[in-house]
Amino acid sequence: MQKVCIIGASGKLGQYMVQHSLDRGYDIVGVCRKQSVSKLDRFKDRISIVPGMTNDREVIQKAVQGCDGVLTVLVPWGVNDYASGTARAVLDFADPHARLIFSCGWHISRDGKDVYSWKLKFLVPIGAWIAKKLGYSDIDDQVKATDLIFNSDKLWTVVRASDLEEGPSQGLPVWSEHVGDPLLESNLTRRIDFALFMVEALENDALIQKAPAIVGCQSPSALAHKSVV
Ligand SMILES: NC(=O)c1ccc[n+]([C@@H]2O[C@H](COP(=O)([O-])OP(=O)(O)OC[C@H]3O[C@@H](n4cnc5c(N)ncnc54)[C@H](OP(=O)(O)O)[C@@H]3O)[C@@H](O)[C@H]2O)c1
Repeated sequence: MQKVCIIGASGKLGQYMVQHSLDRGYDIVGVCRKQSVSKLDRFKDRISIVPGMTNDREVIQKAVQGCDGVLTVLVPWGVNDYASGTARAVLDFADPHARLIFSCGWHISRDGKDVYSWKLKFLVPIGAWIAKKLGYSDIDDQVKATDLIFNSDKLWTVVRASDLEEGPSQGLPVWSEHVGDPLLESNLTRRIDFALFMVEALENDALIQKAPAIVGCQSPSALAHKSVV
């Protein structure tokens, strides 16, 4: 792993991924909206930036060229297929041998075997319906995006995060194949460690074509079930 593209580099998760990638000595190409380029000022001498929307195919084609890994912050903003457009462009233009790591939340299910709390089961769809009606975001499009990824034969990993909090790193999160595993019950991960998991996944072949659901390694449920991790 030498050259890594970070798509959505200016956001909270993206900036943590830039830092973790720099710590590993990777060459970094970041993609972010034009109006957000200044959020990356503290890294500007150490990374290249391709400004643009992440679903702009020309932007993605240029940014992922020659990259061994692509870290994509998959976000469902607006109602114009932003997430699925981003995923499709990454899948189409990344090198066939590149490791592709995508972010999302527990609400994404690969095989329908996840067991959700009443909150995720009922409140998320209601919130998603309201957000779509207001034109704010489209969770269905994030589902469409991950379906595209799950059906791809590329070297992908879809990292499904619990609720997030800020704070110093606690270490690499633990993971399970399915939400509902008691290991994940605490439903909380530090955002900096979510980013760490994304970056570590670049070099972890055991995660190829997997959709790990993660939780903080110091969370009570992780500590209680550590022996089975
Ligand atoms: N928030 C949570 O509790 C949570 C929980 C589990 C999983 N996740 C997942 O974590 C990932 C990061 O989410 P986050 O909530 O932590 O936020 P984040 O890291 O700040 O990322 C938000 C991203 O969306 C971009 N963005 C914001 N408004 C936009 C717009 N109107 N049009 C296009 N792009 C826009 C931001 O770019 P700019 O810098 O240009 O604004 C940034 O790249 C996502 O994949 C999400 O599904 C989040």
